[in-house]
Amino acid sequence: MSKYIHGTDPEEQERLTLLNTVLLNEACLKELSLSGGEKILDVGSGLGQFSRAMARAAGRTVIGVERSDEQIAEAVRQASKDGEKDLVEFRKGDARSLPLRDDERGTFDLAVTRFVLEHVPDPLNVVKEMVRAVKPGGRVVLADDNHDILRVYPEIPGFADLWKAYMKTYSALGNDPDVGRKLVSLLHDSGARPVRNTWIFFGSCSGENRFDIYVDNLIGVIDGAKEEVVRQGLFEEKKFTDIIASFEDWRERPDAALWYAVSWAEGIRS
Ligand SMILES: C[S@@+](CC[C@H](N)C(=O)[O-])C[C@H]1O[C@@H](n2cnc3c(N)ncnc32)[C@H](O)[C@@H]1O
Repeated sequence: MSKYIHGTDPEEQERLTLLNTVLLNEACLKELSLSGGEKILDVGSGLGQFSRAMARAAGRTVIGVERSDEQIAEAVRQASKDGEKDLVEFRKGDARSLPLRDDERGTFDLAVTRFVLEHVPDPLNVVKEMVRAVKPGGRVVLADDNHDILRVYPEIPGFADLWKAYMKTYSALGNDPDVGRKLVSLLHDSGARPVRNTWIFFGSCSGENRFDIYVDNLIGVIDGAKEEVVRQGLFEEKKFTDIIASFEDWRERPDAALWYAVSWAEGIRS
């Protein structure tokens, strides 16, 4: 089993919440173009913010499968606080063996998984489970990272090497930092017919309102893995800390820019 590199402490949960609510969910919903009434399964639902966004758009309860008790507890707490507890039925379980009843398999209109395949050692099994979950003609949507496309400019000395070390740590823990480029293949190999391949842009520059949130997210991702990167001997701790600190000057530059994108692919069950 892989180790979930981001962890589930409150700081990481806050990063995931902002990533969802401010930066990504609107663009992802647009890409999904739900027409309303869809029966949706969210695999690796995390804190459930995207599950809830889909439920609102579809006007129907979403089933969210998540293996971490901490994530489910926080997801339920947030949903209750927002008066949206009924929008998602959270089920504890593993994406590789979905906790679905026999009479539920093959009935979903849409199965979605976002930022999960990178954390499982056998993503094909997850996608096969998702294909089994949807009905014939149903949609399977995969969204995930392809870490090596990240760019920051003007370049921060040492950052490119630090990012490479972060990606190596990812692999060493059984996660796949490049799964984003494999999404269409995964759909094909699991028996679904790939019908869409795109990117959701995830970048900004210093003149934009949300630039700081993008920078905070990037720092949160790398800094959260610091202990592991250093433990694996892939980067020296002091150098790591200095590079992260240099983001503070960099983000004040009027010409600072960063580029990233989330890989997004869709397949149809025959
Ligand atoms: C980065 S979060 C993404 C959450 C959510 N899909 C989103 O896009 O906001 C990844 C989630 O997948 C969960 N996860 C990782 N491996 C899993 C598995 N094998 N089965 C179910 N959940 C898993 C983690 O606990 C974590 O909550």
